[in-house]
Amino acid sequence: MLIRRRAMFRESDITDPGLYLNRRAFMTGVAALALSGGNAEAAAPTTPELKATPNPSYRLDEKATKFEDASTYNNFYEFGVNKDDPARLAQTLKPRPWSVKVDGLAAKPKTFDIDDVLKMAPLEERVYALRCVEGWSMVIPWIGFPLAVLLKRVEPTGAAKYVEFTTLMDPEQFPAQKKGLFNFGSLDWPYTEGLRLDEAMHPLTLLTVGMYGHVLPNQNGAPIRIVVPWKYGFKSAKSIVRIRLTSDEPKTAWNKAAPNEYGFYSNVNPKVDHPRWSQATERRIGEFRRRPTLMFNGYGDQVASLYAGMDLKKLY
Ligand code: MTE
Repeated sequence: MLIRRRAMFRESDITDPGLYLNRRAFMTGVAALALSGGNAEAAAPTTPELKATPNPSYRLDEKATKFEDASTYNNFYEFGVNKDDPARLAQTLKPRPWSVKVDGLAAKPKTFDIDDVLKMAPLEERVYALRCVEGWSMVIPWIGFPLAVLLKRVEPTGAAKYVEFTTLMDPEQFPAQKKGLFNFGSLDWPYTEGLRLDEAMHPLTLLTVGMYGHVLPNQNGAPIRIVVPWKYGFKSAKSIVRIRLTSDEPKTAWNKAAPNEYGFYSNVNPKVDHPRWSQATERRIGEFRRRPTLMFNGYGDQVASLYAGMDLKKLY
């Protein structure tokens, strides 16, 4: 049990994003200065550009988090439990060829090639807040289209009530999936997540293929991930290979690992604390002070009705 807990979100992650990034910025700054003789430039995306139309209905009156921070301070446990593991190790992930199987309780189940998914609907840019359960947050311009477009293609049957997302399982591409002495404490692979069907069909739920005007970097979940902005970040599964319509609530990776800490719903909720820390405030990466966390991460007007009559303290 103790070993299993080793890889869970740690209390040190809760308080130190500012410190971590300052230390890293200092170190990269020193390295960049040494290389450039003083003309250090901010890191820019290295993946290809991806054209998308900004959707004015989905934006925030705030500056986006620096690309460099959004692409180097990551949670992607398939690469390791440290924030810099994904950016350091992500070159082993091969985002092409790639397909996504959409099946389960659907009249027309189908396996889609990623390049066909990209042509399925006009790509939109949407600026969303991302709130991690650890107490930090970012503002990210994502590129994608509503997941509902893809789900409607396979025609969910009347029996479908939930959607399960599965991340790729391949220890050659994800080093932390290798069985070994140092991996006892990790999650039960493959990473799975789930939503109720009405949550999955909600217009905010974004099938995501890019960010900051470019194709998704591997460490952010290339080539395709989900973004569910009113829920804690771990609901937004990365590098998805299967989307399955089910009648029962799917088992999810974090709930299996620590059911008393991570519920199925995991809506951002400042009034329901994590058993080991408060969820009342958060730190935007790039800022020093903490700010109050908003119910449903600020998306209450759009999603509160999904939970009418539910006790969100019990269904955390
Ligand atoms: N998806 C997979 N497959 N594996 C993970 O470890 N981490 C989750 C989520 N999706 C995770 C995942 C968590 S905890 C967060 S906060 C977000 O991804 C982080 O997304 P980002 O690194 O793009 O900011």
